[in-house]
Amino acid sequence: MSPVPLVSIRNLTVEFRGEDHLVTAVKSISLDVRPGEILGIVGESGSGKSVTSLSIMRLIAAPGRISGGDHLSTRQ
Ligand SMILES: Nc1ncnc2c1ncn2[C@@H]1O[C@H](COP(=O)(O)OP(=O)(O)OP(=O)(O)O)[C@@H](O)[C@H]1O
Ligand SMILES: [Mg+2]
Repeated sequence: MSPVPLVSIRNLTVEFRGEDHLVTAVKSISLDVRPGEILGIVGESGSGKSVTSLSIMRLIAAPGRISGGDHLSTRQ
């Protein structure tokens, strides 16, 4: 059986709300990182790599917010 993930995300969605517009920066992403694994996230500029990483570290600040997700956990 595979070990318990160190990082586990299910359906993470992050939005930035402007005065008259809404940017969905990350839309329903899921991933697991288990002990000993290295996960690389690739994608074009603006695809949400940094926002995903900031969400894992709980560093999304207003006007951004985690607007969806069943699960976002980290353990030491
Ligand atoms: N503070 C913010 N306010 C408004 N929109 C933001 C903010 N930070 C990120 N975004 C938007 O969220 C989306 C994802 O941005 P992100 O920085 O995660 O992309 P990235 O994949 O890391 O790009 P790059 O490869 O250029 O670093 C983009 O549309 C970006 O404009
Ligand atoms: Mg980036």
